[in-house]
Amino acid sequence: MRVILGVGGGIAAYKAAELARALMERGATVQPVMTAAARQFITPLTFAALTGKKVITDLFGDRTADEVLASSVEHIQVARENDVLVAAPATADLLAKFANGLADDFLSTLYLAFTGKVVLAPAMNTQMWLHPATAANIEKLRARGHHIVPPGSGPLACGETGVGRLADPARIADDVIRIGTGKQDFAGETIVITAGPTQEAIDPVRFISNRSSGKMGYAIAEAAAARGAQVILVSGPVKIPPPAGVKVVQVETALEMKDAVFAHLEEATIVIKSAAVADYMVENPAPQKMKKTAARMSIELSPTPDILAEVGRVKGDRLLVGFAAETQNMISEAKRKMETKNCDLVVGNLVSQHGVGFGSDDNEVTLVPRGGAPVPLPRASKRIVADQILDHVLPLRLALRSAS
Ligand code: C5P
Repeated sequence: MRVILGVGGGIAAYKAAELARALMERGATVQPVMTAAARQFITPLTFAALTGKKVITDLFGDRTADEVLASSVEHIQVARENDVLVAAPATADLLAKFANGLADDFLSTLYLAFTGKVVLAPAMNTQMWLHPATAANIEKLRARGHHIVPPGSGPLACGETGVGRLADPARIADDVIRIGTGKQDFAGETIVITAGPTQEAIDPVRFISNRSSGKMGYAIAEAAAARGAQVILVSGPVKIPPPAGVKVVQVETALEMKDAVFAHLEEATIVIKSAAVADYMVENPAPQKMKKTAARMSIELSPTPDILAEVGRVKGDRLLVGFAAETQNMISEAKRKMETKNCDLVVGNLVSQHGVGFGSDDNEVTLVPRGGAPVPLPRASKRIVADQILDHVLPLRLALRSAS
């Protein structure tokens, strides 16, 4: 998808850099266009470095007459070449220009020439947002079929607290992709996704856990919600904000994760178990902090329930996806897990590789479908990998549904 990122001149302009990244992580190409005011807040170089594109700043600027003539139709060309125009931050000034058809700089002129989908993410001072003039402009733009990503509430740069903060860049990016593709291929599906590690207490201050960051599971949850699924994300302790439009159930231990999964199993049509569940737990954690002594000590561990295998036993026509994080023999291990846990698809990855797997932003996985040949996916951001996993999940789910 080709996206024009129109950056308006507000303090939130720096967050547009994050939006550029989020769009690219979701597979979009991004053409940045900055207003003169935006360039007071952040330099074009930031966007050029992030997107690899020449940043368009002016209709005329300090170009020579020949350059102006040579590029006199640039706004028409950019309008033709792109699918979505997102303005973020959409300032009160930009909204007024768009609403009333003013065309006195590149972005407003481009807007008039653009026939694709328009997404507007306003950000401004609370009083400016609440002003009847802004409200009327928003209504006009909404009635024109443009999508508005409403600003959030909180402390603003002007020192006030109220509505007017630019929406979360990840949320804006999701909306842009959803609106740009119009792809709601997971509408009607309810997906239970588990993510992150579990923590098994030893005593009130110590626990056994692992290095899972939860990023892969959160990326799948975000992608599935953007494609129209109802998503219940059962999450172990992680440091990631909840994705937009997703119901998050926080858990700590393997036993709590099992209860949360089974509590939502009835409504699930797809279960994706990306969590790195601890394999062992301390059956009776010490009620008080254990004291250090000079002597060696040992802790007795007992196995946790294998949630995936237990779901596999009662899966019915649900599609069941397991994960196999391995340091060796990934494909054979994935196949073994497919059988022992009754999955339809296992996502295998070698966690020993540098830059992919646990904790990293990228991943490189191989999809092992039941009865089919393994499909290696190219290394990419976890968000892109998430969409590719979902691309494989959907036909399997539809096949199971029509067979039942
Ligand atoms: O057997 P192993 O832990 O390698 O299997 C990994 C898969 O099984 C993952 O999908 C993981 O979420 C799931 N699992 C589980 N409950 C456990 C252990 C693993 O659901 N106790």
